[in-house]
Amino acid sequence: MLKDDLGRLQSDLMAAISGAGDMAALEVVRVRALGKKGEVTGLMKTLGNLGPDERKTAGQALNTLKDALAAAIEARKASLAEADLEARLATERVDVSLPARPDEIGRIHPISQTIEEMVAIFGEMGFTVAEGPDIEDDFHNFTALNIPPDHPARQEHDTFYLPEDAAGSRPVLRTHTSPVQIRTMQAVKPPIRIIVPGRTFRADSDATHSPMFHQVEGLVIDKTTHMGHLKGTLIEFCRAYFDIDDLPVRFRTSYFPFTEPSAELDIGCSRAGGKLTIGAGGDWLEILGCGMVHPRVLENCGIDPDVYQGFAFGMGIERAAMLKYGIPDLRTFYDSDLRWLRHYGFLPFELPNLVRGL
Ligand code: DAH
Repeated sequence: MLKDDLGRLQSDLMAAISGAGDMAALEVVRVRALGKKGEVTGLMKTLGNLGPDERKTAGQALNTLKDALAAAIEARKASLAEADLEARLATERVDVSLPARPDEIGRIHPISQTIEEMVAIFGEMGFTVAEGPDIEDDFHNFTALNIPPDHPARQEHDTFYLPEDAAGSRPVLRTHTSPVQIRTMQAVKPPIRIIVPGRTFRADSDATHSPMFHQVEGLVIDKTTHMGHLKGTLIEFCRAYFDIDDLPVRFRTSYFPFTEPSAELDIGCSRAGGKLTIGAGGDWLEILGCGMVHPRVLENCGIDPDVYQGFAFGMGIERAAMLKYGIPDLRTFYDSDLRWLRHYGFLPFELPNLVRGL
């Protein structure tokens, strides 16, 4: 084995390595040189035929060659991978600075927008958002809320019942967001300050009722919470939501099984000329139900009514959106009509914010 032969073999293989245009070609060269039947491997096998001195020099020379080839193959592999990545980055390039096409921007649905606005207002007051399941059991939707089995409120709720479960009871589609009051009071210790926006269901359908609609519930529980807090919170909410500083507000006595005393909140409006306008106008419009949480409801959740008390409220989100944005028909909310959405929807980058205005 001549030194010259090795030198030639080395320069041949090195040229083949640097000439390999992709990973597959490089692999062919590697097998040709260092594979089981490769040229260098073949030479290694001939070492046994040599005398001891010769074998030593030739062995060293072959090992040096083998290492040099292996290093060159690794280096070529790395540069091919890098070139590959560069090529992909070049073809998959996205120009993030391109302007958006305004006529193709999606719109935020008025329901989502209204929820965001309510979350912004109550969030500023220190409320957090809680959620619960759409499918409820009788206990959370009714019984724990002090609505016993024979209570007329059960009929008024036009409940959708689901088939009996294994335990023999019938789950319901929640008829209001109030069961999340129960779930929250069972799960966390007071003080509690939550709002609960979410879907609700009643078997009722006409221009002002939909079998699926949305409510937002509110619940505050603490040791010294009183009716003054209820009034202050809700008056502040109405004025912020409708963005009318002197919006007239009145509390009218009402009845709910889960609150005592209970009230409904009316806001001022005008119906002059058959047109409804929110604001000081001599007329009134009901907007939400509220009250001090009934001691029995607290007890049902394991909260001592001699230590804790609080208030709750519930309001319809569609109705609040219709009043604020002049949307005349409830059913259009769920038609998925793009023209309607373009007209009544909101731009996605204009998130409601109290400082900038809602
Ligand atoms: N759950 C009531 C409904 O669906 C609304 C409501 C009224 C909720 C008074 C409350 C409340 O939390 O205090 O009609």
